[in-house]
Amino acid sequence: MNSRHFTIAIDGPAAAGKGTLSRLIAETYGFHHLDTGLTYRATAKALLDAGKTLDDEIVAEKMAREVELAGLDRDILSQHEIGEAASKIAVMPSVRRALVEAQRRFSEKTPGTVLDGRDIGTVVCPQAPVKLYVTASPEVRAKRRYDEIISKSAPADFDAIFEDVKRRDERDMGRADSPLKPAEDAHLLDTSEMSIEAAFQAAKSIIDAALSRNN
Ligand code: C5P
Repeated sequence: MNSRHFTIAIDGPAAAGKGTLSRLIAETYGFHHLDTGLTYRATAKALLDAGKTLDDEIVAEKMAREVELAGLDRDILSQHEIGEAASKIAVMPSVRRALVEAQRRFSEKTPGTVLDGRDIGTVVCPQAPVKLYVTASPEVRAKRRYDEIISKSAPADFDAIFEDVKRRDERDMGRADSPLKPAEDAHLLDTSEMSIEAAFQAAKSIIDAALSRNN
């Protein structure tokens, strides 16, 4: 870390609340935000759009190198099938290397950045002065997904979503390259019984303390 830029690394499983928290933090501190999940999703979408299979690492790496961080669109990339495909290609070391390079370049923006994902504190920005690991029980995360879908008047099946959450956790935590886990020096935030506002206040005290040490 140097004093020109300040990086906040936020990791955790799907639907733990890290996206909302990251956006709030970035807005509060005037930092740039990158949802690194979107980089894996954009790579997966490019493969699907080109009619490619999800098991060719050379083609997948090429697509990963072409991802433009500025063009990542959450609305287009949020589809469930794209998320599933993303977690399949995220096991490929050369895809990860390509995306991690781009993510590290992003993390150097001034005055600061918030990156959220699965391996930010462990692999992408191990020197980040603030690392948060945001989690919640699989039941709570599945319920949040379910409520979100229902609120858009779309049909949702809780049991299917719950199975999905568990399958995605297994894939993300069980892969050999950069598995999802808290960095040793990460602050754990379990949002199972915490509102987003309470989680934000907890994160803010950690960040403010780190910022004052940095000055
Ligand atoms: O967070 P999101 O659901 O958008 O991420 C989609 C998939 O991308 C995750 O399930 C995970 O497999 C992969 N991913 C990753 N490393 C990151 C961010 C996402 O492997 N830093």
